[in-house]
Amino acid sequence: MSIVVTGATGHLGRHVIEQLLEKVPAGEVTAVVRDESKAADLAARGVRLAVADYNTPGTFDGLFKAGDKVLLISGNEFDKGRVQQHRVVIEAAKAAGVSLLAYTSAPGSLTAALADDHRATEEVLLSSGLPYSLLRNGWYHENYTENLAPVLAHDAVVQAAGAGRIASASRADYAAAAVAVLTGEGHENTTYELSGDEAWGFAEYAAELSRQTGKEIVYNSVSPETFTSILTGAGLPEVFAGILAGVDVSIEKGELAGTPGDLSRLTGRPTTPVAEAVAAALKG
Ligand SMILES: NC(=O)c1ccc[n+]([C@@H]2O[C@H](COP(=O)([O-])OP(=O)(O)OC[C@H]3O[C@@H](n4cnc5c(N)ncnc54)[C@H](OP(=O)(O)O)[C@@H]3O)[C@@H](O)[C@H]2O)c1
Repeated sequence: MSIVVTGATGHLGRHVIEQLLEKVPAGEVTAVVRDESKAADLAARGVRLAVADYNTPGTFDGLFKAGDKVLLISGNEFDKGRVQQHRVVIEAAKAAGVSLLAYTSAPGSLTAALADDHRATEEVLLSSGLPYSLLRNGWYHENYTENLAPVLAHDAVVQAAGAGRIASASRADYAAAAVAVLTGEGHENTTYELSGDEAWGFAEYAAELSRQTGKEIVYNSVSPETFTSILTGAGLPEVFAGILAGVDVSIEKGELAGTPGDLSRLTGRPTTPVAEAVAAALKG
């Protein structure tokens, strides 16, 4: 029996593996990776590696064992049919008879197009009959704090979210919730709406950046169309830029502002304040 984590060499996956290693022996953890060389450090620490790709169903044959607990980290290839990719993992887990499949989904309140793949994957998982846990992750602080270069270059936070608020949390917080579910008991057939304890708006975010940098940084709220063209101008593919602008529309409607407290209840501690993520990013 193993705790198996897909997307293990991604940002969230790395946090999950790190935190798992604080709780269970390395030999009980399997990291599913596409590129073994990216996980050499994990193998050296005794983590088992399995090489598989969501696009190649055969690579998941025999990967899972009966009784495994699996974390399916959603993929990031928007153009490759993520629902089908996730189905491949769910079907392999079903064939093996795993005891839990946890999936990193999107908040139930999110109506933006970004949520479509997640809702469809949830349906596939629920109809598989597998014991499931839906980890409906809210927004990461790092979506903003790891993209500070244009903000600092122009002394402006540019978004299309009006006065909307976001209850974001750090990737490490979401990873801690996943680890609690994977290592704890009684999480079968559960849905968690995971978010930060406090919601903030972009005007406050700009004020926090001003405070920490000593510069005067303002918030410019633009239309979704303008935001899309700014993002494409910066080199983002049009489809992805449109998806991100759609998320801002959802933020303005308050769809990412919920603070039900599921995340801090699962982890037993408050979530990381966004100001801390800003400080970490500015420190480099
Ligand atoms: N809640 C949020 O704010 C937010 C923000 C961004 C993304 N997300 C979602 O949450 C997921 C995890 O976030 P993250 O920050 O860890 O993203 P990330 O760093 O981009 O990691 C994505 C992971 O998915 C793996 N992957 C992608 N396509 C795959 C395939 N065809 N087969 C096998 N593995 C594949 C990647 O493998 P490699 O390591 O080999 O590249 C990587 O490990 C993302 O993929 C996305 O679905 C959520």
